[in-house]
Amino acid sequence: MKTIDTVTGLRIMVARWRANGERVALVPTMGNLHAGHLQLVERARKNAHRVIVSIFVNPMQFSNRNGGDFERYPRTLEEDGKKLSAMGYQPDIIFAPSVQAMYPAGFKQEARIEVPEISNILCGEFRPGHFVGVATVVAKLFNMAQPDVALFGEKDFQQLLVIRRLVADLCFPVEIIGIPTVREKNGLAMSSRNAYLSSEERERAAVLYQTLQQAQQQIESGERDFAMIQAQATAKLSEAGFQPEYFEIRRAQDLQLATDMDEQQVILAAAWLGEARLIDNIVMESPD
Ligand code: PAJ
Repeated sequence: MKTIDTVTGLRIMVARWRANGERVALVPTMGNLHAGHLQLVERARKNAHRVIVSIFVNPMQFSNRNGGDFERYPRTLEEDGKKLSAMGYQPDIIFAPSVQAMYPAGFKQEARIEVPEISNILCGEFRPGHFVGVATVVAKLFNMAQPDVALFGEKDFQQLLVIRRLVADLCFPVEIIGIPTVREKNGLAMSSRNAYLSSEERERAAVLYQTLQQAQQQIESGERDFAMIQAQATAKLSEAGFQPEYFEIRRAQDLQLATDMDEQQVILAAAWLGEARLIDNIVMESPD
């Protein structure tokens, strides 16, 4: 396993693989790796001859860059490397570019990619500009690594849809694979931001998933008053000490408001607990 921090270095390696007809997978991350990330890497291994894990805390997707979330985001490159090399099948490359290598012109001047509508609702409403930052950096990573396949977690369900749309609309020759959410024993979705929770909060954080599961059960047992389900869930989260941003039942395909005609629905929630902004979701199958 090699760590590369320049675009040229990455391109040289990938060009060699491609010349040999090898299939290349990319797993984009911001590091501070946990079992959820490793699951993506494992699936990548099964899907391609070569695996690149990118580790880059992308300033463009953080709204409060100075003194905020971007600066305090955990950076643990050395430990991340150890976790990856302890895997049965290690990735071939860790691509860990500097901000300068990723944004040579400074990202204020950078051309950017916008996926309208879906980027401005739910998380996008509470984090303006976030998905432009995500779409732009992912498009750059695709151009740098030229993968055949890229893997993303369903935990960030809206992000996965933004990327699918980006790939379809701009004709990127990249297959996108979504991977189910990996959870702690108590149900809490694994996330680098869980590091901001105290041990007591970590236990309480499981209420987020429980609330999603309750809403799922209500819908599965025939309740169709979505507004009531959403209001009850939000109240439950507030009672448990969360500050909910949203709790929504939506159409899985494009995150528009759910109706009885939907093939598939998803229940999505975002809420603050202490210092951590947590998101989670449950994708539901159609009743018939
Ligand atoms: P990051 O939060 O590091 O997540 C990297 C990938 O791991 C994403 O595809 C995310 O959905 C997935 N992931 C995170 N937690 C997971 C879990 N518990 N189970 C399964 N998959 C999980 O998402 C980003 O980074 C960035 O926005 C990025 C796409 C790298 C662009 O900067």
